[in-house]
Amino acid sequence: MKIIMLGAPGAGKGTQAKKIADQYEIPHISTGDIFRANIKNGTELGMEAKKYMDQGLLVPDELTVKILLDRVAKEDCRNGYVLDGFPRTIPQAEVLDKALKERGDAIDYAVDVDVPDENIVKRMSGRRACLSCGATYHMEYIPPKKDGVCDRCGNVLTLRDDDKEEIVLKRLKAYHEQTQPLIQFYKEKDVLRTVDGTKPMQEVFDSIVAVLSR
Ligand code: AP5
Ligand code: MG
Ligand code: ZN
Repeated sequence: MKIIMLGAPGAGKGTQAKKIADQYEIPHISTGDIFRANIKNGTELGMEAKKYMDQGLLVPDELTVKILLDRVAKEDCRNGYVLDGFPRTIPQAEVLDKALKERGDAIDYAVDVDVPDENIVKRMSGRRACLSCGATYHMEYIPPKKDGVCDRCGNVLTLRDDDKEEIVLKRLKAYHEQTQPLIQFYKEKDVLRTVDGTKPMQEVFDSIVAVLSR
């Protein structure tokens, strides 16, 4: 099964994508996580991506597309994957579409996790992330067992650089201008499924599982 997660920054794409990946035993691929891992390791790609990410802007398609296409060509993606944070622009979606079509393949579902802007800023300020394994927590809604420490791997949790309020507002702007048009794009392909992302995490997941079997 090939699934795309759509939704504003902080809508819960990553949270839900990890649960989908566990349930359907497919890899969870987040372009944001790939960039953050590169930043942490000080690679050239990381340095370049950071310039944009720190300003709440999208990383240029030229940098993003190749990374994603290389990743989905790997052996573990044979039975599908869940993409979190890609595509984020119409040109990215078109490239992915074309690459899949060449193999007689297509995306099965694009799940839009719908959360209004008002809820987003609050969520972001409470988010803590593990830069080692990619796990995410929320100080209020989904706290780790031990304060400031990742349940999964024991590393310290950090506030993402781009989760400061003024940057979150810029990311929302980029979302509305560049990413939201993908909702119509996938609707026309008849693969769009929308879920209410304001519900508690498990309820959101249950509604995703329900729409994936339709
Ligand atoms: P990326 O890492 O993809 O960030 P994003 O889209 O801005 O989304 P987030 O990861 O912030 O939110 P999320 O929807 O995953 O929410 P989460 O589950 O964490 O991208 C970062 C940057 O990288 C971009 O700005 C861009 O510069 C660059 N980039 C990445 N991909 C790119 C691409 N394809 N092209 C160009 N540039 C690209 O949840 C948020 C919080 O809410 C958490 O604390 C969570 O615990 C909590 N939460 C989750 N669900 C619920 C719930 N139901 N109720 C209450 N709290 C909840
Ligand atoms: Mg995420
Ligand atoms: Zn961890």
